Amino acid sequence: MSNRVLVTAALPYANGSIHLGHLLEAVQTDVYVRARKMAGDDVIFMWAADTHGTPIELRARREGITPEALIERAHADHLAVFQGFGIGFDIYYTTHSDETKAHAERIFKAIEAGGGIASRETHQLYCPHDQMFLPDRFVKGTCPKCGATDQYGDVCERCGATYDPTDLKDAACSLCGTKPELAASEHLFVPLAKHEAWLRSWLRPIEEGGETHLQPTVRNYVQGWVDQGLRDWDISRDAPYFGFEIPGHPGKYFYVWFDAPIGYIGATQRYCDQTGADFGAYWQSGDAEIVHVIGKDIVYFHCLFWPAMLHAAGYTTPSRVQVHGWLQVNGEKMSKTRGTFILGRTYLDHASPDYLRYYFAARLGAEQGDIDLSMEDFANRVNADLVKKAANLASRAIKFVGSRLDGKVGVAADDAAPLLARARERLAEAPGLYREFESGRALRLAMEIAEDFNLYLTEAAPWKLVKSDPERARAVCTAVIEACVMIAAILKPVLPGWAEKVERMLRLQPLTFANAGASLAAGLAIGEYETLAEPLDPAKLAAIIEASKESAPAAPAAEDAPAYEVEPLQPEVAIDAFVGLDLRVARVVAAAAVEGSNKLLHLTLDLGPLGSRSVFSGIAKSYAPEALIGKNVVVFANLKPRKMRFGVSEGMVLAAGSADDAITVLELDGKARPGERIS
Ligand code: 2FM
Ligand code: ZN
Repeated sequence: MSNRVLVTAALPYANGSIHLGHLLEAVQTDVYVRARKMAGDDVIFMWAADTHGTPIELRARREGITPEALIERAHADHLAVFQGFGIGFDIYYTTHSDETKAHAERIFKAIEAGGGIASRETHQLYCPHDQMFLPDRFVKGTCPKCGATDQYGDVCERCGATYDPTDLKDAACSLCGTKPELAASEHLFVPLAKHEAWLRSWLRPIEEGGETHLQPTVRNYVQGWVDQGLRDWDISRDAPYFGFEIPGHPGKYFYVWFDAPIGYIGATQRYCDQTGADFGAYWQSGDAEIVHVIGKDIVYFHCLFWPAMLHAAGYTTPSRVQVHGWLQVNGEKMSKTRGTFILGRTYLDHASPDYLRYYFAARLGAEQGDIDLSMEDFANRVNADLVKKAANLASRAIKFVGSRLDGKVGVAADDAAPLLARARERLAEAPGLYREFESGRALRLAMEIAEDFNLYLTEAAPWKLVKSDPERARAVCTAVIEACVMIAAILKPVLPGWAEKVERMLRLQPLTFANAGASLAAGLAIGEYETLAEPLDPAKLAAIIEASKESAPAAPAAEDAPAYEVEPLQPEVAIDAFVGLDLRVARVVAAAAVEGSNKLLHLTLDLGPLGSRSVFSGIAKSYAPEALIGKNVVVFANLKPRKMRFGVSEGMVLAAGSADDAITVLELDGKARPGERIS
């Protein structure tokens, strides 16, 4: 394999603004790319906005502009925010491009020519007024279960019931209110099962003769999906749809998830056309490393559909898919009312992007756990690490040399040699850690060097020696400054501006992991100290939260109106109503996202001696599938099996949550035995 590397981050939707969740991923990707470039790899970061689909079509309609105008506006906005955060992509393109279109057509035709496209009739709700098929989210009506009004076509946000849009009572088109009708339409599918054998080999680790590098937990649940049987993937949508028409199938458009990842290829094509780089070496030679950084909600697309499509069409398949967890703020899901749904732009209005880059990188590792941006910890961490440890060390030594030692460094003191040797070892470890997405551990190394040398400097106290032994004072400061250079090199992928200042002050060539451990030239005249970090004032963070709060809900109409509305109580029931309810302990043995639904998870439950159950549960917004595996939950086990759009659900998992909040599944401890009755 060459050292040619192509890295991507997920393509942000053009119908939304960039928030801190996007920035977590952008920073993770950027740090990885910068570190590998610094280590001498030939890396490009290909990125774009994801522009197609019904929501963009409809939003543009609502605003009275064309979808093209809408995505252009979003593009400029995304670009400004990402640049504001110093994200060093090589291109930020758009999926609505000639290049993406050409590759989407080519990939489709190649799959079709190989017999990999099936076609069959489907029945969906259609609005005769708007003359369009309605995605589930565009049908609203009354929940057939609890009677809550204004519910989407797939799941009730009040009671959690899941159903077909055709089951909704008083179903209406959410755009115009017309009653939709059921209409037939021919759709195109990719029968994924055809690629099962290849997918299984792709999923095997590179070290075991397979083709990819996945985190073990990710590999396990993708493997679980393959084991459960791969369903056909519907890749077409009917007009009107903002997207690319499918060649040879007039009136049919590629589903947004078909052409979105092809945007990675379209961006590369554009980049290569503009720079003269060799496109084929990335996507057609098979020997480039293709690394995708994504969140855990889109693993299905990147680890099943995408590699299968690339493989079927003869393109280079991904060598690594790196999955990160959710961003939480102050321990909770980001929320507009709490002011924790923070836009990138709002953050930039108040605080330096470097703080957030540092904090995210310090919290991120190779595993895909959720990352909590706790505002208190954020300020403490930045101030303790960057300001008190790293910047303070540089400022003490460099300023002292400037003011008391003629601005010249010498040869590092002998008594610092063991510490410098230890620092060089740490420096040598950093590129490998960054390469494994272990930025938190890499930054820890920089802080350990700073801790060692702060102690050394305090003990050696050059300010006491400067009169009696100025050369010893110079030697001590020189050792400390050499340590500061290594710290700057380790910080450089995260804080390139910091490293640039150090390079300027010390008249250094651009720092790399290879050159940062060298001794300084004795007699070198250094420049003026430039402030490396200012303390992060918690008041700024409070201001960000304040500015992110959505305006308070309108005041109640009358004095005595309740502060919020609740459903009236249902008629009373006697205790006997519960007698027939059979609740059992169940262990989640498999959990998977449900294609075509952003609310449902498909759970396989083990009820011990009672066998296993397949249940669809409306908890996808609050739980990543893999987070549930192994948990003991409570299942309503004698519920009559219900046929749903995605399959038959054989029970209901007990969970609670209101419309706006996260849903919490009732969880029993590890001692509960599957199948046991709960009374
Ligand atoms: O989930 C999302 O935000 C999608 N817009 C990500 C697309 S990634 C790629 F496939 F384009
Ligand atoms: Zn309508």
